[in-house]
Amino acid sequence: MAIQLVTTAAQLRTESARLLTQKGGTSQGLVPTMGALHEGHAQLARTAVEQNDVVVASIFVNPLQFGQAVDLERYPRTLEADLAVLDAEGVDLVFAPGVDEVYPDGEPMVRITAGPMAGKWEGASRPGHFDGALTVVAKLLHYGMPGTAIGGATGAALPAYRAYFGQKDAQQLALVRRMVADLNFPVEIVPVPIVRSPDGLALSSRNRFLSAGEREAALVLSRALRLIEDRANAHEPLDLESAKALVESQPLVELDYFEVVDPRTLEPLAENCKDTPFRGEGLALIAAKVGPVRLIDNVPLDS
Ligand code: PAF
Repeated sequence: MAIQLVTTAAQLRTESARLLTQKGGTSQGLVPTMGALHEGHAQLARTAVEQNDVVVASIFVNPLQFGQAVDLERYPRTLEADLAVLDAEGVDLVFAPGVDEVYPDGEPMVRITAGPMAGKWEGASRPGHFDGALTVVAKLLHYGMPGTAIGGATGAALPAYRAYFGQKDAQQLALVRRMVADLNFPVEIVPVPIVRSPDGLALSSRNRFLSAGEREAALVLSRALRLIEDRANAHEPLDLESAKALVESQPLVELDYFEVVDPRTLEPLAENCKDTPFRGEGLALIAAKVGPVRLIDNVPLDS
């Protein structure tokens, strides 16, 4: 394996700087993850490797973003397999710190407050989740920052710095972008499209918990999104109600929300969806429980 594993921020800084110098690199990419990697994460890594000279992936199961201790304990830890996935994509360095490295004084006293956009959709059923996620993302963006100017010379240009987030977690992506803009983080956030299995199911670490029947039932989510996308592309009214009815006709699926929202503010675009042809940009968001498993999916609309 060519990939290197480091567990402290000091090692990360030294090794990423050494790699940048060794490669004569001008850019560094960061792929933040919680491990349990699948093809969706591989796509994040692949995109980062295509666009940067040095790529760091982080693997850290962040206690701050879990509501229940039991969910945190149950979260799959698959470091060896994860390293193999990242190595195959050409990632240079993996930062896999322990909780004591990231939170040496216990839970941080000062945190990121994700604000009103965090209280809806996923945030409505997971209070505090996005504050915890943004707090660790802020830390990871600092850890992953390229350490030295190119060549180390005074006045030399700083390396470009990019961080990669999946569009699957659309609310997280919108909040990360907002945090980076509002707080002037010196990083470009690069969104990476959802990866789907051939039958349309969006890849997720949670899919492993679906039975065969539940997995089949879960396909209604991407089908319903596709209906909305097709209508937007055809400049027709979106008719969200009939797409909702399709989801609700599936007995194993319990719909939580299905809305078309503004991709930047996540506010519903309800009026744009009813009787008039859809115009502009939107994001169709869906969340449902399929058996015991909560799934989310979305599709960007541009008409
Ligand atoms: O999307 C994830 O895997 C996590 O929320 C992230 C961004 C790595 C922060 O813990």
